[in-house]
Order: sequence, then C-alpha cells, then structure tokens
Amino acid sequence: MDSADVEPDLVNILFTEEQIQTKLRELAAKIEADYAGREILIVGILRGAVMVMADLARALNRHLEMDWMAVSSYGSGTKSSGVVRILKDLDTDITNRHVIVVDEIIDTGLTLSWLISNLASRNPASLEICTLLRKPEALQMDIAVKYVGWDIPNEFVVGYGLDYQEKYRNLRDIGTLAPHVYS
Ligand code: PRP
Repeated sequence: MDSADVEPDLVNILFTEEQIQTKLRELAAKIEADYAGREILIVGILRGAVMVMADLARALNRHLEMDWMAVSSYGSGTKSSGVVRILKDLDTDITNRHVIVVDEIIDTGLTLSWLISNLASRNPASLEICTLLRKPEALQMDIAVKYVGWDIPNEFVVGYGLDYQEKYRNLRDIGTLAPHVYS
C-alpha cells in the first residue's frame, strides 16, 4: 500500500520506502563490518519487525540465520507494565551464538529491556539490538542499542510494520498518523 492510498490518514510521510531501504543498507554495512568472521543469528520480534527483518536480511551480503520471537505485555492492554509474556520462543539454542535482536521501533524500551535480560540469561556469545526507529522522548529504560536507523519525535507513526489497530502495517512508507484517526 502506498501513502497515496491513505493520504487523508497521514499528517506527513516521515520516511519513504526509498529512504528506509537506504538506511537499512547502511545498517547492514555496519553489521557486516562488525561481525566479520563471526556467524550471526538475527532475531525478529513479531509482528512489527517482519518488514525490517526481510529487508535487513537481504541487505546483508553474507550468510546469517534468522529466528523469531513473539511477546505480549501483561496487564490492561497497554504496554506500561513492562512485564512481558513469551507467546513464541526461539527455536534456536543461542548459547555461544552472536545474536542481533531486530525490531522496528523502540518506544518506552520496556519490551526490549525485558527481552534482552531474558536472552542474556541464555548465555549468548554476544547480544546486540538493531532498531529502525527509536523515540528518545518516550524511553523509560536505559538500553544500549548498537544499531539505530533514526531517532524520531514522540508521535504516532505507522507503516512498514507499524500498526494502528492492526492496520497500516503494509504501508510502504512510514508516516505520522493524523489525530482524527485515533481520537
Ligand atoms: C511494538 C514494537 C516493539 C514494542 C516497542 O510492538 O514492535 O516490540 O512495541 O514498544 P516499547 O519500547 O514501548 O516496549 P507491539 O507490542 O506494538 O506489537 P507488534 O510488533 O505486534 O505490533
């Protein structure tokens, strides 16, 4: 789906499909340089990270393995509790593996903070995070993120995996959602 298809719902286009692909190639080049001579396992966090995983993986000009986790926050339907439940665990034993967790956005940081503690307890050889977007103003946790595409303002963004009520994930660009859609 193109931005033009949902134009009335968007305040602006934050990043175009082309800008996203360029950014992912930059991140892939950094990862290639950092992990030369080491096998890597990239772990995507369902469901939002599907697009980033697919494009980042193809931008990496080397072998890698891919696995997936699905998590859900406990509580009242908001993500504020920071307590996370694993809906789908890794199929891979990550002991002594070089793991890169891939997500499309870090908002409060609660999800990844919990997830990183959980994965670290499994004794990987190394553990890093790659996220396309991060909202510094929304962060509640101090998480070390090695690979960040862009820091963005604390606004409601959709597209490229990011949803509002499960819609807009298939939007090619990333845009700011107009308040009339969610208010
Ligand atoms: C999004 C995103 C991150 C998390 C970030 O997932 O993929 O995993 O929220 O938020 P946080 O930093 O405040 O914890 P979401 O729970 O919306 O699920 P989804 O990937 O299925 O859309």
